[in-house]
Amino acid sequence: MNIEWDKLGFNFFPVKSNIRFHYEDGKWDDGKLYNDYNITMSVAANCMHYGQAIFEGGKAFRTQDGKVQIFRPDENGKRLNSSAKHLMMPEFPVDKFVEAVKTVVKDNEEYVPPYGTGGALYIRPVMFGTSPQIGVAASLTYELVIMVMPVGAYYKNGIKPVDAMIAEDYDRAAPKGTGHIKAAGNYAASLISSEQAHSRGCAVALFLDPATRTYVDEFGTSNFLAVTKDGQYVTSKSDSILPSITNKSLIQLAEDLGMNPVRRPVRKDELKDFAEVAACGTAVVLTPVGRIFDGDEVIDYGLTEIGPQMKRLYDEMTGIQSGRIPDRHNWLVTVE
Ligand code: PLP
Ligand code: COI
Repeated sequence: MNIEWDKLGFNFFPVKSNIRFHYEDGKWDDGKLYNDYNITMSVAANCMHYGQAIFEGGKAFRTQDGKVQIFRPDENGKRLNSSAKHLMMPEFPVDKFVEAVKTVVKDNEEYVPPYGTGGALYIRPVMFGTSPQIGVAASLTYELVIMVMPVGAYYKNGIKPVDAMIAEDYDRAAPKGTGHIKAAGNYAASLISSEQAHSRGCAVALFLDPATRTYVDEFGTSNFLAVTKDGQYVTSKSDSILPSITNKSLIQLAEDLGMNPVRRPVRKDELKDFAEVAACGTAVVLTPVGRIFDGDEVIDYGLTEIGPQMKRLYDEMTGIQSGRIPDRHNWLVTVE
């Protein structure tokens, strides 16, 4: 295999296999590895009209001593079930989910980027309703497919600061981040704001609370976090944001580092007062934000490199994931 590991971005990359489970007559089957990416499904499938489609995102890492370790797959399993429940989809047992992730990662071990390249094996489970129907009702059959692929940085400048744009009030009903459900349709509704941000040269859109537009919700790809001038970790508390596993982990690390982390509503007019701002998530890891554009105004954090507090968090997180720092919270599952 001849992969230029250092040059990987966040792109679809075909690998050896994906694992698939089928749900019918009220139960999931035992699953099977497939060596292709095609499915045969009715064009009348529920997911095509009524959007019973959810997904997850996780990562596996190659450690310094050559092992492959998956970061908190049980958390992905739990959140998959929480999304499933909201969209009237069947739950998938968390233990079975973790085993399935281990199986598909193991089968594609050669695609886990080597230690030190900054890459990871991205894990993308998708679940969707497949029964043909025209009336609005839950599907009777479902597929759960877990794909994996090697990835590098989500935003091209690595951990250098990116620009963000506050999403315009395009349509209060639509692009408001992704709610707390990792549903495919929520992301489709955020695409227009992401596109507007890109057209202004910003990497990412920052969504406000849709009702009052006075509080910061989250980025289109990730949670919002900030560090105050006196070193406190602050992250948004809102019912419409995705409960990020990365953020939950960073909150624990911030606690360990004495940064007194707090989840609280963050007012938009506080943005200018923070020392450092960043986006966090599986794909974006911890990406510092250099400037935030809001209509004609711009908040500039004056950083050309990741700031000192975000760097501490980034080093701690990536240190644990790659095995340089002991896994003191038992977050990693070894693939054997
Ligand atoms: N918020 C949104 C909208 C996301 O798409 C993601 C990515 O999954 C996150 C937050 C971060 O969640 P996690 O850290 O679990 O990847
Ligand atoms: C992830 O971070 O895993 C996500 O699903 C976010 C997506 C924008 C790539």
